Amino acid sequence: MKALILSGGHGTRLRPITHSQQKQLIPVANKPILFYTIEDVIEAGVKDIGIIVGPNKEQVINAVRSVEWDANIEFIYQAAPKGLAHAILVAEGFLGDDKFVMYLGDNIVRGGIVQHARKFMDMEPESLVLLTRVDDPQRFGVAELDGEGRIVRLVEKPDVPPSDLALAGIYFFKPVIMEACKNIEPSWRDELEITDAIQWLIDNGYRVEASSVDSWWKDTGKSEDILEANRLILDDIEPKNEGLLKDSRIYGRAVIGSGSAIERSTIKGPCIIGCNCVISNSYIGPYTSINDDCTVEGTEIEDSVILAGCCISNAGRILESLIGKNVRIEKNCFKPTGTRFVVGDNSEVLL
Ligand code: TTP
Repeated sequence: MKALILSGGHGTRLRPITHSQQKQLIPVANKPILFYTIEDVIEAGVKDIGIIVGPNKEQVINAVRSVEWDANIEFIYQAAPKGLAHAILVAEGFLGDDKFVMYLGDNIVRGGIVQHARKFMDMEPESLVLLTRVDDPQRFGVAELDGEGRIVRLVEKPDVPPSDLALAGIYFFKPVIMEACKNIEPSWRDELEITDAIQWLIDNGYRVEASSVDSWWKDTGKSEDILEANRLILDDIEPKNEGLLKDSRIYGRAVIGSGSAIERSTIKGPCIIGCNCVISNSYIGPYTSINDDCTVEGTEIEDSVILAGCCISNAGRILESLIGKNVRIEKNCFKPTGTRFVVGDNSEVLL
């Protein structure tokens, strides 16, 4: 079985971060989201991975190539994000006549996909899709099942959902899906929808099975989803300290990377601090991920994701925040007093 991981798209809902960075490379617990998907497909025994790349293709290629993976990885360019079924068509040469798992590169599922891959291999349907119960099915592709648990209907972001079972961004297919993708028309949003392609399989008498996600699953489309995924991953983190501690206290499970110095500070896990950071006179609280090369001074940070190279000084108490790379936040010590901003387009500031 091959894997097709989708790492294209514009990520508009995560602007301004995605103005300069491809969504799937945003780190959760200091690891790019995309890397969790690559690890999951390798764990399921896949040796040939195709990664769909789009607007920031060089970034994705460089990030993936910076790590040694136990699989062959090929990059497939999709010139415009014309839908998940369009991505399959673009990958036709790579996929050939093989079965494959398609995994959205901004989705994370706890526990990986091994059990689902096994189910697909054992049951041999034309497609097997992962489903999970959600509170707000209107936001997702939603499935209607028959009495035997087979899928009879799929609808994309329905006003009146037929169930609360959302498609979890991981799909297994036999090669007949290519024919389905070639036989559907673009939707109202001008995309070739994977839900339409799967519906085509059902309407043409092919078998589509469902497999339910027992644990949590997260689609990291928006900033609050990134924060929630970060909390869920940090909940499972194992403590490890490779940094230097001076006059500081650590409570709970914390990871501190090499070359980092923690001085006169309190660290309360679960949290992760990357390499070559300096944390001084500060409090780093639960569910915080601070990436490499950051400096935090005289500040309290809790429940937040801070990307690499940030400098935060005497900034009070920072909560539930997603802060991009190389951001400087510091107390304004000059008169007149007040809050000064230099923020990019589509930024969000809550005071
Ligand atoms: P979406 O989250 O639906 O789209 P997006 O990433 O462009 O985000 P936004 O809606 O905020 O603009 O895409 C799901 C995943 O599939 C995501 O990892 C991007 C990827 N994708 C592609 O690779 N090609 C495509 O044509 C589309 C539509 C998505």
